[in-house]
Amino acid sequence: MTLASIIEPYVGKTGGLISALHAVQKEHGFLPEDTEAVAADVFNLTRAEVKGVISFYHDFKRAPQGETVVRVCAAEACQATGGRALVAALEKKFALKMGDTSASKDLTLEPVYCLGLCSCAPSAMVGDRLVARANADKIGAVVEKTKK
Ligand code: FES
Repeated sequence: MTLASIIEPYVGKTGGLISALHAVQKEHGFLPEDTEAVAADVFNLTRAEVKGVISFYHDFKRAPQGETVVRVCAAEACQATGGRALVAALEKKFALKMGDTSASKDLTLEPVYCLGLCSCAPSAMVGDRLVARANADKIGAVVEKTKK
């Protein structure tokens, strides 16, 4: 499917651009480089307008993600309960910097801004599994389970 054929059905619909971008990401796993230009053309918007939408929403990815994505909360409650130390421990454990994907494409480590688990901070998410009162070992164990 071409990008235009994915995007076109959303023209004229409420929230059409965002829905179209989600559809592209669902199809490709991320937003390919020419998504901005194609979406701008199809929706008759400027590329800056489309880029603004893409950059505003953290869920839109500009590059392929790893098979397993570990999201670590970087919002206030988690920062106050050891969030920075958790990030440092995870970066060491997985030999990966926050925001990066491993060379083998098996793991992505990225920040997220509140998972709604503030009372059980620090919090993280491995794939679609929430991890409360997270630490590097606990997250590592969940990552291993997702591989099986
Ligand atoms: Fe981390 Fe809300 S601040 S889950």
